[in-house]
Amino acid sequence: MQRLSQTISDLFPTGKGLLAADESTGSVGKRLTPIKVESTPENRRRFRELFLSAPGAEQYMSGVILVDETLRQSSSDGVPFAKVLADRGIVPGIKVDGGSKPLPGFPDEEVTEGLDGLAARLQEYASLGARFAKWRAVIRIGKGIPTSVCIETNALQLALYAGRCQEAGIVPMVEPEVLLDGAHTIADAERVTTDVLKTLIATLETHRVDLAGTIVKTSMVVPGKESGTLATPEQIAEATTRCLRSAIPKGVGGVVFLSGGQTSEQATLNLNAIAKLGPFEWPLTFCYARALQYPATDLWAGKDENLATARAAFIERLKANAAASTGNFS
Ligand code: G3H
Repeated sequence: MQRLSQTISDLFPTGKGLLAADESTGSVGKRLTPIKVESTPENRRRFRELFLSAPGAEQYMSGVILVDETLRQSSSDGVPFAKVLADRGIVPGIKVDGGSKPLPGFPDEEVTEGLDGLAARLQEYASLGARFAKWRAVIRIGKGIPTSVCIETNALQLALYAGRCQEAGIVPMVEPEVLLDGAHTIADAERVTTDVLKTLIATLETHRVDLAGTIVKTSMVVPGKESGTLATPEQIAEATTRCLRSAIPKGVGGVVFLSGGQTSEQATLNLNAIAKLGPFEWPLTFCYARALQYPATDLWAGKDENLATARAAFIERLKANAAASTGNFS
């Protein structure tokens, strides 16, 4: 338990946040294709290195979620990425789920798999330097969905994985992502996100998961992309904080947000508005992939000569979100 609480305090110093560098191989390919870079193991390594070795990132970044491939790779000068991070005080983490698959009998709903062999994988990941582990469940809002079966089945998988993580001395980061896709209103998003988080917390408690050694990764409460409605950062902050305050009990290790397809600017402005409504009963910050990696990815375009410019853009996003995490972005 001492190990878990040390990891939590290393991940949540005031004014820092996390990078999710945890796209699957397929999703990295979707980032590389538009910049005309072939998705080979070496090019994926170079893409990760753009962010993981960015000088100065440690001022704003407390942790990074890696994937299996990256955890086994090294920087251009031969230092394993987990060590590149740890040497600068950044906590390495790992995505351990096996991806979401159709939920039999429930069209348009999914369940995340990956429990088989997880205990052994966690032991190996810990030996490679990972101190926290993420599992993502996918919740879609639509006509008649999400069903309680989908919410409960995913909560059960999350609780079982979280328990195995804690047995291995690894902090679980439980992520039930409520997708931005859809025509739902902000009120629909608030109702569903609250329900999903309440079910998750109750299931974690039933399974005797130590909430103080657990991080909840959640979506912000925003209207669906196809809803034809827009919400201001203040409206998003009101709905998100109401949801979190009613669903997340005092004593949870920490809460982090995914960006979920918001633009980089929206993700910063919304986080800033949310943080302004604090203090909260748990530390709260960002854990973004897309909102931190754009526009750096485009500026890099796979060319070493663009590395400095691309890294400057990445640091700018990190710095803005670090300020937003305390409500001080302007
Ligand atoms: O699972 C989602 C990632 O960890 C965060 O990605 O910020 O692009 O939504 P995102």
